[in-house]
This record gives sequence, C-alpha cells and structure tokens, in this order.
Amino acid sequence: MNQHTNPDREARNILIANDRGGYTIPTEGLYPYQWNWDSAITALGFAQFDLDRAWVEIETLFTGQWDNGMVPHILFHQQDEGYFPGPDVWGCNGPIPSSGIIQPPIAATMTRKIWEQDTAFGDARMKALFPKLRAWHRWIMKWRLDEFGAVCTTHPWEAGRDNAPDWDNSMARMDASDVGEYKRRDTSHVNSEDRPTKFDYDRYIRLVQIGRKAAWDQQKLLSLNPFRIADPTMTFTTLRAARDLLVISEQLGLAAEGLSTDIEKLEAGARSLWNEELGSFDARDAHTGEMSGSVSNASYLCWYAGVESDKMLERLKATLETVPYPVPSYDPEMPKFDARRYWRGPTWAFMNMMIGFGLQDLGHTEHANQLRKKTGDLISGFGFAEYFDPITGSPAGGKAFSWTAAVWLHWAGRA
Ligand code: GLC
Repeated sequence: MNQHTNPDREARNILIANDRGGYTIPTEGLYPYQWNWDSAITALGFAQFDLDRAWVEIETLFTGQWDNGMVPHILFHQQDEGYFPGPDVWGCNGPIPSSGIIQPPIAATMTRKIWEQDTAFGDARMKALFPKLRAWHRWIMKWRLDEFGAVCTTHPWEAGRDNAPDWDNSMARMDASDVGEYKRRDTSHVNSEDRPTKFDYDRYIRLVQIGRKAAWDQQKLLSLNPFRIADPTMTFTTLRAARDLLVISEQLGLAAEGLSTDIEKLEAGARSLWNEELGSFDARDAHTGEMSGSVSNASYLCWYAGVESDKMLERLKATLETVPYPVPSYDPEMPKFDARRYWRGPTWAFMNMMIGFGLQDLGHTEHANQLRKKTGDLISGFGFAEYFDPITGSPAGGKAFSWTAAVWLHWAGRA
C-alpha cells in the first residue's frame, strides 16, 4: 500500500489537470470526453474550492441537451482518435456531437447540493438550469418507464454499470453476429483483464448500430431495441432527482406540475424491483419480466431514493463487516463475482458516496459514517483509481480519476 500523504492537494490537482475548459474528462486517455454522471459528481468536487467552476461543469453538460430534452451520456466536445465508439459511430444530431443514450440522472441531485452551498449566486443559476433539468426528466418519464413505473436502461452503458451481471441473460439472448469489424481502444489504455469481454463489447456496439439505424427515434426503439431492463440505478436516481426537483421548485417558487405524480409512479416502480426470493432490490428485463438475481451496489441506492428497507440494511451491515473494502459492485457470495472486472465485483467510490448520502438522509448516520471512513481509507491508501478490488483494495482501471478525486474532496476526505 502506497500512502498518499496529501490527498486533498492531489485531488484538487487531478480535477484541475482533467479540466478541459468548462468540462472535465473522467481520466486522460481512456475517457477523453465529457461523461454525464461523471460530470455531476465532479462538480461536487469543484464545489469544495471553486463554486463557479462547479456550476460551469453542469451548465456545459446542458449545452449538449437535445431539443426533445434528452441529455446524452457523452458529449464529444472535440475529436479524439483514442476513443471508440466516437461521434461518427453514434450518428447523432444534437447541438454538440454526442452519444444517443443517457446515463443515470444524478445532475438534479448534485446541482441541488451545489445550490445549497452557493448562498450568493445559487438562486439565479439554479433558476436558469431548472427548466432544462425538468425537460430531461420529462423525457425520461416519457420514454424509459416500464409498466410498473420502474426506469429502464436501453443499453448497458446507459445505467453506467457497463458489464454488470444484471444484464447477462438479456445480453446472452441478443444476436450480435452481424456487428462487423471494429477496433476497441479501451484495452490499449488499461489492462484487458479489468475490462468487459469481447462478447459484451460486440453487443454494446450492436446496440449502438440499432439505435443509429432508427435515428434514435425512441418510439421505434421501444420495439426494435432488444435490450430494455428496469434497473435500480436508473430507477433510484430518477426518483431521488424528482424529489430534489420538487424541493427546488417549492423553495424558488417555480412551476412543478406533474412532479408529485412522477414521484408516486417512481415509488411504485422502485418497490416493484424488490426481489423477495433474492432478498434484494434487483433488475428486471422489461421484455421478458425475468428478474436478474443480482445484488449489486445499485441495490443499495434505495435510501438515496428515499426508500427504506430493513432487509437491505441487514445486508449492508454484513457487507461492512465482512468485505474489507465495501461496497462491492456485485455480492462476493455470488458465483459470478469477479474482484477486478469492472462492474462485476470492484468497489466504486462514487457509488459509495451516493449510498452514503441516502443512509445519512434516512438517519442511518452510523452506517453512513462507517462507509465514508472506509471509502476514505481506500482512497488515501490506494489512490484515485477508477475503481478498486474490494478484497485487497488494490486500484484498477484508469488512474487520476475525476470522480474519485471529487468523492475525496466532497465526502470521503472530510472529518
Ligand atoms: C465507464 C463506466 C461509466 C462511466 C464511464 C466514464 O463506462 O462504467 O459508469 O461513466 O466509464 O467514467
């Protein structure tokens, strides 16, 4: 273990070095553009030393918003040969070259936190962003709900948990034999053992081709897209965002028609993801109705969404006691657990922070503090990695990662 002696300074320097002027890349090389949920987390890091820059991060993200309200998962602000699939593969027509899917909508929640910190200029900037946030959430409510009110991911990248075991059955049913030739770039930046497999990658690209062929027409994609899974990440983050938007609208006296109804629908959707047999929140294939049988770190976002669960709290306690560096992205007791492979085992500091926010909000302060402390030890001990082996703590994936630095500054590194 290589102790990081001044993690505060290191974290600030990472954000400053990854700043590309108005937006921050997740890490040099592997991820050279602006990613949607990374930016929302990164903004919280900036808020600790430069509130204006924090707002700019979110404002820049919304410069990529499509006319229909959608906010893409990647904004390709400038061409970079080191990344695949780039804008030419996605074939989108937004105001900034972009991907054609979203990511978990955490921007409203993180913007609320920045607004609460910025007592000088916060109201004006929040008022300007609010209609844009609302438009994005209207788009999600229109196109991503399943029949129970849970929010679906239409690409493994959309839920932000690229190769999670949650998608395995749906991915296995998909035919990607006609995907054609393409060249991955991720495995030239980091160890291929830490990255998704070729089987997965073929399907990621095939789904992009399907979306592009339909010109990203969501009505058509409802039937054309074979991948549609109601998932805890999308559902819990959307529900939490709706609650935050309601609070913001009340405090600023802004119109909020429909938000209370959205919250009711999403609450029902969130509860529908409870898998009694598994004893956990889980994902569900919207085409087949089949549950995934996955206990992931997204399962623990229930509190973040304001959804209480004694059973999840029991699980969390056990995880905090038995896993050296919690919370693993997949339960180590389950056969598919893989300590280093991305979303199939490793611990992600930003997910811990969101779980921690939820625990704190619902009064589970002791567990929130425990998780914060453990996440702090992980980062100060092993550095600002993209993610970590939950058993040994060893860093994996990209280095000098923006959201890990932001988590340190905003949450894990604070006494
Ligand atoms: C990977 C992660 C995703 C993240 C992106 C950029 O694709 O799975 O959640 O947003 O990298 O860091």
